[in-house]
Order: sequence, then C-alpha cells, then structure tokens
Amino acid sequence: MPGLTIGDTIPDLELETTHGKIKIHDYVGDSFCIIFSHPADFTPVCTTELGGMAKCMPEFQKNGVKLLGFSCDDVESHKEWLKDVEAFTPGSHVRYPIAADPKRESIKQLNMVDPEEKDAEGKSLPSRALHIVGPDKKVKASMLYPASTGRSMEEVVRVVQSLQLAAKYMVATPVNWKPGDPVVISPRVSDEEAKRMFPQGFEVKDLPSKKGYLRFTQIQTTAT
Ligand code: BEZ
Repeated sequence: MPGLTIGDTIPDLELETTHGKIKIHDYVGDSFCIIFSHPADFTPVCTTELGGMAKCMPEFQKNGVKLLGFSCDDVESHKEWLKDVEAFTPGSHVRYPIAADPKRESIKQLNMVDPEEKDAEGKSLPSRALHIVGPDKKVKASMLYPASTGRSMEEVVRVVQSLQLAAKYMVATPVNWKPGDPVVISPRVSDEEAKRMFPQGFEVKDLPSKKGYLRFTQIQTTAT
C-alpha cells in the first residue's frame, strides 16, 4: 500500500458515516482501531464480512478496540444494506460506523483503492483493505486483499491481540501464535532486563549458533 504504511499517521479525515459525521482521530481516541474497507454494498462477500466483524465485537470491546468500516455507497444505502447483513449472520448487530465515500476521496487518502475493480459507471472501488491503528493514530499493521477473497476475522482478532501484547510487554508473537500460547522476548531486551521484566521466567532455546536469541515466556492475560 504505497503512501500509507506501518508507522504513518492515519489522515484525520472528516467522514459521513451511519453514526453521523466523525473525524478519524477523534474517533480513534485512546484506543486501537480497525479501519477496514469493502468494495460495495449489497455484494455477497462484503455482506458476510460485515456480519463476521460484528460477531467479533465482544472480543474487540474486551480489548478496547474500535471498528470503522468503509464502503463507497452513501449512508442511506449502508443503512438498508445492514438489514441484509444482520439477517445473514444471526446474532450479529452492526454497532460500528460505516463510512460513505461516493466521491472516492477518502479511500484514495487511505490507500484503499483497488485498481482492478470498477462499478457499473467505471468508478473505482475499494479493495478489502484493513489498517490497525494505535492510540497514537499510527498504522501498526495493514492487510490488503482483493474483492474475491473474504478476510479471516480470526486472523484480525489474532493480529490485534499480538499488537496489544507487543505494545505492553516488549514481546513478539511467533509463527502461528494463538492467544494463550507462549510469546518470544524482543531481541531489544537483554537477558538481565528479561529477568526483571519477566519474573515468571523464560526458556532460552539451545540452537546451533548458541546466540541465545530465541527466548520464550508465558504471559497471563485476560484482556490485554
Ligand atoms: C463481493 O463482495 O462479493 C464482491 C464485491 C465486488 C466485486 C466482487 C465481489
């Protein structure tokens, strides 16, 4: 996503949404926020994704994470569409705002334009882009998928939990990590510091290099 990448501040755009006008920075506030786009209202994959995201709301709320959806159609269209979304995914209630962007100005600034997808009038459509923004309003992680591939909500939840752990404990999450699994201690932390920071202890893997850089520890969290 050239132009908006990890470490960049998300543009403070004013948006028309299903919850009224919002400014992105005010909306993010002191939270982590997932800003994610969909190609269009009343399309099959998008309908499943919106409901999937709504079903994960309790998990996000537990961790203080906000959601902000994007689709280019107008707010009235979004409100009509949400009836389909909630009917398709029983138990989902879309409580997060969905921004409208009929002029495609915001999706350009957020690097959410899909160069290959156009609507019936030939206007650009958003890709399935997703930025996870921290309380400092900076992009912490991004995902970019085409219209044909619905996202894994489990993966979104997993990445947010990894980011929140890393922000709090100087740790990182290894391959295929799931919440509750051991984490690795950041290479920026010396063994002396690690003994202080992780009184629960840590295991250093004995590897051929003998460099002692792969150190696992367990972090007990209910909500990070
Ligand atoms: C969909 O949500 O299914 C979709 C939207 C735009 C293009 C292709 C698929």
